[in-house]
Amino acid sequence: MINIALPKGRLGEKAYDLFEKAGYACPSIREESRKLIFENEETGVRYFWAKPTDVPVYVERGAADIGIAGKDILLEYEPDVYELGDLGMGKCRMCVAGPASFRDSMDTTLRVATKFPNIAKKYYASVSRQIDIINLHGSIELAPIVGLSDVIVDIVETGSTLRENNLQVFETIVPISARLIANKAGYKFKYDEIRTMSERIFALCNGGT
Ligand code: PRP
Repeated sequence: MINIALPKGRLGEKAYDLFEKAGYACPSIREESRKLIFENEETGVRYFWAKPTDVPVYVERGAADIGIAGKDILLEYEPDVYELGDLGMGKCRMCVAGPASFRDSMDTTLRVATKFPNIAKKYYASVSRQIDIINLHGSIELAPIVGLSDVIVDIVETGSTLRENNLQVFETIVPISARLIANKAGYKFKYDEIRTMSERIFALCNGGT
């Protein structure tokens, strides 16, 4: 049995479609319910719905053999897992954004609101800029509008949240997409099954490494 942690939500559903096409169907997952675990003995898979930021935790600790996680979450939490490849879905970018009227001054500490403090710290360390991190958990775009921060470091997908709040992108830090990750010990013990699975999946999405 291969245990697969899927991120709850649209990305997880798209990822499941891919697994199904690759021959790892589990029809009960499509039924409307509050269940979190679905298993199909015939195809040898057990799927879990986890909170997207928790997927790497399940995989790192071996509760799941493989999982789907955004590159943003992998960069932020740096879990000790194998990254098997890029699924080419969930594409967006990590950006610095703020009000068009904002003018940076190197004399002051830049106030940065984000739910990705490690990514923000690393980025500003790389450009030798002193910052004050303001940790938020959502609606990050609000922070510079109400004067809580100067800029934000956040995900931009369509750009509509920024546009509708009169904010603009100043820098793109890194492109983001969904990755297939594997537990390091599980990858050794279930090598043949996981390799076969990842090859079938990457053959469908033209990704992988
Ligand atoms: C994410 C991100 C932006 C928005 C970007 O938020 O933090 O706010 O999506 O998407 P867009 O460029 O297509 O507008 P999410 O929807 O995850 O909600 P959150 O505010 O709770 O972080």
